[in-house]
Amino acid sequence: MEMEKIVSLCKRRGFIFPSSEIYGGINGCWDYGPLGVALKNNIKRFWWRSMVQLRDDIEGIDASIIMHPRVWEASGHVQQFADPMVDCKDCKLRFRADDLEGESCPSCGGELTEARMFNLMFRTHVGSVEDEAAVAYLRPETAQGIYVNFQNVIKPSRQKVPFGIAQIGKAFRNEITPRNFIFRTREFEQMEMQYFVKPGTDGEWFEYWKEERLRWYDVLGIKKGKLKLHEHRDKELAHYAKEAFDIQYEFPFGVKELEGIHNRTDYDLSRHREFSGKDLSYYDQETNERYIPYIIETSAGVDRTLLCCLVDAYREEEVKGEKRVVMGLSPAIAPKLAGIFPLVKRDGMPEIAKRIDELLKPHFDVFYDAGGSVGRRYRRQDEAGTPFGITVDSQTLKDETVTVRDRDTMEQVRVGIDDLVEWLREKISS
Ligand code: GAP
Repeated sequence: MEMEKIVSLCKRRGFIFPSSEIYGGINGCWDYGPLGVALKNNIKRFWWRSMVQLRDDIEGIDASIIMHPRVWEASGHVQQFADPMVDCKDCKLRFRADDLEGESCPSCGGELTEARMFNLMFRTHVGSVEDEAAVAYLRPETAQGIYVNFQNVIKPSRQKVPFGIAQIGKAFRNEITPRNFIFRTREFEQMEMQYFVKPGTDGEWFEYWKEERLRWYDVLGIKKGKLKLHEHRDKELAHYAKEAFDIQYEFPFGVKELEGIHNRTDYDLSRHREFSGKDLSYYDQETNERYIPYIIETSAGVDRTLLCCLVDAYREEEVKGEKRVVMGLSPAIAPKLAGIFPLVKRDGMPEIAKRIDELLKPHFDVFYDAGGSVGRRYRRQDEAGTPFGITVDSQTLKDETVTVRDRDTMEQVRVGIDDLVEWLREKISS
């Protein structure tokens, strides 16, 4: 129920559309509209700032999506990155066997085939000859681009273990059943960080990153009571993990994974050392030891975080007998920080509002809106998740102050035009 409202708001306000919609869409792929891309960029920037910019121990990279095919043999994905798939013999629909556990075939009750393993990697060919030697894959996770660059990064950055490498980028999985809007898609983005530590210290670092990542969602403004930690039991552990926790969120369709935190041990670097024949060990000058670092990984989905922000922010309220829909997004990530409204289209108010728009634009994402009553403009601002509405009114003409309306409390204060940049800046950082 609530999801339908969010999907419809996303379409109406220009957050998210089905991909290739005029052709009927394509399953598991979505496009971000003007507000959606702004929100997505802000979430990525928010992550990068806390994981890379504000830290001395994490470096960023941006690796290619198509990598040498041996990478995926070494990583174990060619062999093991598969889900059990079943087909219904009657309606021919395809399901993930683990999605159906304990349920009968949901649509027609037909007989199911035996489960077969289905590799989730998208295959393509590199170059003009489409033979087996030219097979390549679209990366199913960004992590491998970090492992293969371990030595490339450590030398120029002069980092010492423990340190991390972070990356944001697209990943692709041929999911058997993409579903729940942008929650499980075939093309998505990840924000991943691989933290290289000395073996034996991995337990402590694992705990550290669990806490740190949970705190991040708190700072992002996600309601605490909606976040959960879920520990993977043996059967759930990925082929590379010794220990794993999911940070989960209580979505309208169930409590689901937002981010995975894994202790990947020395699996990845050892495998790449074996497959590439290159030395991926680390020489610790302090202790005079050489070892293959263990890796603690934090792996978040951009699209899932964005969906979580939308779901968490959505609320309906009654104000003086009228319903209002509000997207209570944090000012730190809201697609537009402020709307600028002339109260009426005369008395020089549009000109002053445009001047304010020009004044604020170099600093923040703002928009000018003169269409409809100011009440209607506020409603649009609420639905778009814009935290502040700046209105030029008759008093502005006298004293160069404007009314600033707070989206959440609907309280209004007067701020001098010259003080607006500072006033808004404070709101973002608080
Ligand atoms: N490198 C580790 C890794 O990829 P994962 O648990 O398979 O681990 C990490 O994925 C995160 O990537 C998930 O928590 C989720 O946020 C996001 N993700 C994975 N598959 C996705 C999909 N099909 N659609 C959207 N997001 C996905």
